[in-house]
Amino acid sequence: MGTLVNKRILLGVTGGIAAYKSADLVRRLRDAGAEVRVVMTRAAAEFITPLTLQTLSGHPVHQHLLDARSEAAMDHIELARWADVVLVAPASANLIAKLAHGRADDLLSTVCLATAAPLALAPAMNRQMWDNAATQTNLATLKQHGAHVFGPAAGAQACGEVGRGRMLEPAELVALTTELFATGVLHGLNVVVTAGPTWEAIDPVRGISNRSSGKMGYAVAQAAAEAGARVTLISGPTALTPPERVQTLRVTSAQDMYDAVHAHINDADIFIGVAAVADYRPARVATDKIKKHADRMTLDLVKTPDILASVAALKDAPFTVGFAAETADLEAQARAKLSAKGVDLIAANRVGAGALGFESDTNTLLLIDASGVTALPELHKSQLARRLIQYIANLYNKTNKVGLQNLHVKTKNTAQDPRRAHRP
Ligand code: C5P
Repeated sequence: MGTLVNKRILLGVTGGIAAYKSADLVRRLRDAGAEVRVVMTRAAAEFITPLTLQTLSGHPVHQHLLDARSEAAMDHIELARWADVVLVAPASANLIAKLAHGRADDLLSTVCLATAAPLALAPAMNRQMWDNAATQTNLATLKQHGAHVFGPAAGAQACGEVGRGRMLEPAELVALTTELFATGVLHGLNVVVTAGPTWEAIDPVRGISNRSSGKMGYAVAQAAAEAGARVTLISGPTALTPPERVQTLRVTSAQDMYDAVHAHINDADIFIGVAAVADYRPARVATDKIKKHADRMTLDLVKTPDILASVAALKDAPFTVGFAAETADLEAQARAKLSAKGVDLIAANRVGAGALGFESDTNTLLLIDASGVTALPELHKSQLARRLIQYIANLYNKTNKVGLQNLHVKTKNTAQDPRRAHRP
């Protein structure tokens, strides 16, 4: 298995001789498990054919801004939202200059401006162009804005000169791209995440469930693993592939989920309840399939255990994060949940008619804790999950008033772990 499994890399290719290496780069990114979509500038297509990159990436190459056909397939805003990372390799001096000034006059520069994903640039150009003060100033500006700059390397150039300006080799670019995902902000911590719906059986073939796809919970588990945590994902029934480097346990009912959570919560430093747990279950489960008789039938339902509240109420409770899916009064409902359940943070999102939510690939979140409210914008669930994990890590550190980086032994099992001091 590769190291970029489930990562969506938007590869921008600009016009330069190094564009021929982009073909190998696409292949290696895919070998590492990434899904790759390619945006080419007009000049790039002079160096390498879109067909080559389409064949290697497995997707049509995006070339034109405001072209009816390609915008219908995936417009520039969708592309910008789709990406976990935008990697431009090779990045020409011209593209770097445009980005430094916020210009958006073609598809690639527009996507770079419109994306909330990290931007990585692999410059490739003649050494004089690289050394030019304008290029260096533009790069300094982009770095200040948060762009990652990979390379360039020094050596013999296609133009016959020797110096800095060679694009890094594809293997190095894959390694550097992989590093972008490894934030380390939860390094060494144990995290338990619940995800998906639960299934409350009525009889052997019927049950009560809900529309949760599990996508958000799986994304949260994956983001926590990327951040260096040891993650246990306790999942209700979903059709999703378990995330890499995550211990995934599959359960069915709310009671099963409760049991699995409490079997693993002892070691947990952080608990994140993303699952849409059924609030009620049938009081009795029929042994055989219930037959159709009367015009009406009544199901007798009883409450399921509230897993989140039960974790927050533990004497040695972990840092506890709940989700609130609401159809109305999002902030007020989430605030009420924060205090009623005694949790450290509530991540609230709107569901129901006209909202994103359950089956959607994107979502928005309102983060509510004792310090206030933070709104995260509409993002792909994997990016949203990374932002959430970053927020949780910050809050966890602040609450415990100890920087994670200064600790060598970081698990809950460490008797005097000072980060757990916020709990009585
Ligand atoms: O009360 P409500 O169901 O709206 O709260 C949602 C939050 O509580 C979510 O984090 C969900 O995972 C959790 N929950 C739970 N057990 C239940 C019901 C909800 O852990 N039985």
